[in-house]
Amino acid sequence: MELYKRTTDCGALRGTDAGKTVTLNGWVNRKRDHGGITFINLRDRYGLTQTVIDEDAPAELARLAEELRNEYCVAVEGLVRKRPDSMVNPEMATGEIEVSVKRMVILNRCEVLPFQIAGEESSAGEDLRLKYRYLDLRSTGMQRRIKLRSDTAFAVREWMTARGFYEIETPTFIRSTPEGARDYLVPSRLYAGKFYALPQSPQLYKQLLMAGGFDKYFQIARCYRDEDARGDRQPEFTQIDIEMSFVSRDDVLSMTEGLMGHVFKKVLDVELPARFRRLSYDEAMDRYGSDKPDLRFDLELRDFGPYVGAGGFQAFKDAAAEGGAVKALVVPAAAMGTPYSRKQIEELEAHAKIYRARGLAWIKVAAPESGSSALLEGGVSKFFGGNAAEIIAGLGAKAGDLILIAADARRKIANTALGAVRSKLGKDLRLTEAKRFEFVWIVDFPLFEYNEDEGRWEAAHHMFSYPQEQYHAVLESDPASVKGDLYDLVLNGCELASGSIRIHDPALQKRIFSVVGIDAEEAEAKFGFLTEAFKYGAPPHGGIAPGLDRLVMLMAGETSIKEVIAFPKNSFALSPLDGCPNEVDAKQLDELHLIVKKTPRDGEGVSKT
Ligand code: AMO
Repeated sequence: MELYKRTTDCGALRGTDAGKTVTLNGWVNRKRDHGGITFINLRDRYGLTQTVIDEDAPAELARLAEELRNEYCVAVEGLVRKRPDSMVNPEMATGEIEVSVKRMVILNRCEVLPFQIAGEESSAGEDLRLKYRYLDLRSTGMQRRIKLRSDTAFAVREWMTARGFYEIETPTFIRSTPEGARDYLVPSRLYAGKFYALPQSPQLYKQLLMAGGFDKYFQIARCYRDEDARGDRQPEFTQIDIEMSFVSRDDVLSMTEGLMGHVFKKVLDVELPARFRRLSYDEAMDRYGSDKPDLRFDLELRDFGPYVGAGGFQAFKDAAAEGGAVKALVVPAAAMGTPYSRKQIEELEAHAKIYRARGLAWIKVAAPESGSSALLEGGVSKFFGGNAAEIIAGLGAKAGDLILIAADARRKIANTALGAVRSKLGKDLRLTEAKRFEFVWIVDFPLFEYNEDEGRWEAAHHMFSYPQEQYHAVLESDPASVKGDLYDLVLNGCELASGSIRIHDPALQKRIFSVVGIDAEEAEAKFGFLTEAFKYGAPPHGGIAPGLDRLVMLMAGETSIKEVIAFPKNSFALSPLDGCPNEVDAKQLDELHLIVKKTPRDGEGVSKT
């Protein structure tokens, strides 16, 4: 076939180009026949151009035009001409012109499409989109988002390298040290019964790079975690992994603020504040019932404790007496529009119960027009008639507002359940505009969490985070009280990044291992290579890892990271495109010294298209 190379792209031509002869390569986005004249909208990565086969076109050209269908890949040569004024399309970058086709070559034909793709988003369901991802990628939305991702990765590299960070690759075949999620394993052919693991993150290697003297490192690193997929999780994903030596927590935070500021300005032309808000973990839980609060809207949790005594509502009294919490959320009448019905409140209660709340009590602040003399009405209002005015003033509630109350002997449950209701209200009441970016640092996390199922303490983040100095004396005696130099960066209610200052003292590291129940032998077997490195003058260091997928998802105003990954897995960790994971033949298994104990029944664990 004649190579019919483009001289320009489908997004470039303007009125000033009229009179030029050009060649375009692209796909047929749409074809319209207007009795003798055929309009073909040609599309490529850069845009759309209207091409025209005129009435007096040679017969061969007319025949080709007739054959064309959507998504045929073609080359056209033609003359750029201005459109008549009445035909100018201000919606299209190239809307002032059209190209009168003189020659055309069909580079490739397209069979009947599995779904329509011309436009912003393809119309198909998830598995079909993923099976034919190469077609889905042709939609304007996917094209825009993949470009956004590329621009973001470039802006990251630009900023980091300009500040002296080296981009260094760490291995993706590493020792299995499962903690947190499960590892993906790769069997070794040369060493029967042994496995490499794919990294859940480059954590240990970036710390070794610090021991190796590379004091500012970053990597756009692929990570693998065998955990259940969700909207913001994939089995393989990408981190902007960062580590620095000789730094304090605040150095890492301000470096990250600078990086985010650059990326948002460069890629979206959005100006971020020079410093992001900071909340301690305790404050975030207390005020928002979440360690990843969405600060695009207020709806703060309030303490209902001071009002419990006077009322006779037993569940509140019990929770308060047992040292728990009674928390309230005031939903403004203005945000609700029409007052919430009993059914809507029951839905909120059902949501709170998912987060282990025993119930969700409610009271309405009477509106003057209700004709009632009581200040509070409905729900549990009868218990609080005596101190109604005090409650309304204390909570700053107004007529028509809805007060939701969660009480539990365990503070965390009252807070998280009401926090979950707060998040749901944010979405339901459309308080979460997609294009606003509210960053917040959550700092001073607890270092340990108690795993009730296993009856032991475990690291809240990972075992290499530095306990704040003032807690070193009580690591073993009061693990619950210990705060770490740990931080999360939260954007619009999504955990965007996590990091910490690390332990570089082998003795302190040993103490942490022992609190989480890893004895000396196990610690040596699993992490000996790291603790050994600490013995040779390892510098103090710390770092952070923003998730690239989540960052781009939020920048794009999307709610699933699949929308910003070229070839993601589906919600069942499967790839409808190439059908992985797949069975392998007996010879391969044999070489890898593996025997498969159970083969899945037909269709087991497979999602339906
Ligand atoms: P962490 O496990 O919190 O920390 O991960 C850091 C960030 O990576 C992103 N992320 C994910 N994105 C998509 N799919 C997933 N399954 C997934 N899991 C995590 C999130 C998260 O905030 N080594 C530490 C970082 C450090 O301490 O420097 C770590 O991996 O955006």
